[in-house]
Amino acid sequence: MIFRQLFEPVSCTYTYVLASRRGGEALIIDPVLDRVDSYIELFARLELRLVKAIDTHVHADHITGLGALRDRTKCITVMGRESAVDAVSMRVADGDTIDIEGLRLDVLHTPGHTDDSYSFVLPDRVFTGDTLLIRGTGRTDFQHGSSDDSYESIFNKLLTLPDETLVYPAHDYKGETVSTVAEERAFNPRLQVSSKAEYAAIMDNLGLANPKMMDVAVPANVAIGMAQTGDGEGKDGDWGLTVDQARARIDNPDVILVDLREDAERRQNGVIPGSLHVPYVDIDDQVGPSGVLSQLVHGSETQLVFYCAYGERSALAVQTARDSGLSEAVHIMGGIDAWKKAGAPLEG
Ligand SMILES: [Fe+2]
Repeated sequence: MIFRQLFEPVSCTYTYVLASRRGGEALIIDPVLDRVDSYIELFARLELRLVKAIDTHVHADHITGLGALRDRTKCITVMGRESAVDAVSMRVADGDTIDIEGLRLDVLHTPGHTDDSYSFVLPDRVFTGDTLLIRGTGRTDFQHGSSDDSYESIFNKLLTLPDETLVYPAHDYKGETVSTVAEERAFNPRLQVSSKAEYAAIMDNLGLANPKMMDVAVPANVAIGMAQTGDGEGKDGDWGLTVDQARARIDNPDVILVDLREDAERRQNGVIPGSLHVPYVDIDDQVGPSGVLSQLVHGSETQLVFYCAYGERSALAVQTARDSGLSEAVHIMGGIDAWKKAGAPLEG
């Protein structure tokens, strides 16, 4: 496995890059906007293809690199279901998995620092975000934080992982890089408590100032969505369909709906009847000269209508398809989320 722990010194943030092999697919956890160039350089050197960028929660102390990485690599952005972010490609919940080639992260909802805090687990390590830090725990006094939730997440979820599990947090302010579950249980001063109330008494009396970047970072981090409607300049025309516009076309035999989501998302949320399944990670190949989608469209009146969970992957797919010469490709703005809210039909 390729594993990199990268440090951003202004906010003392750790960013993690994971891949199963050189030349394979990669994911990144908690990227920082200012460091995006260096991540891209690292991917190039290791011949990695970034396919997923994950934030453990909405950060208050730095601006996330999720939007910039999506714009530059067309990767899928991933956050928890509770995150009040205008658009991410894929939302996860407790018990889900995040898969890339050769690697699977188990998703643990670990609220407390914020209500949208998640941890991600591999067999030998856990990425704890700001829920559990080395000899500390994430503050619980803003962004819907809760010391009760923090206690539950730490004691009933993270500390139930095997003792030797490596703990990789999102921050460290003293230069520590890694710990283990057993070490934190034994030596983390905030965890030497006998009850939830005792823990809450510590957390509710920390008297911390707000992070310097908070007023800038939180608004920026909840507005990372991309334009889903086209360039508005008339060059490419409008390529975003509303749900109503899409519904009006689905019975047209020249229209092919293409579902870009992963199997688990399709099982959880249903599928628009009659659609083709092409996972987003395969889109480059499928719209290329020998791809199934380009062959379907070639020499016919067929129009591709992409959709995904929230409209972000599908907007990127439209750009990829149009770059490959499939100039009629469009997508459903807001994805299955908008489709469901409009009460439009689903199967499965
Ligand atoms: Fe945080």
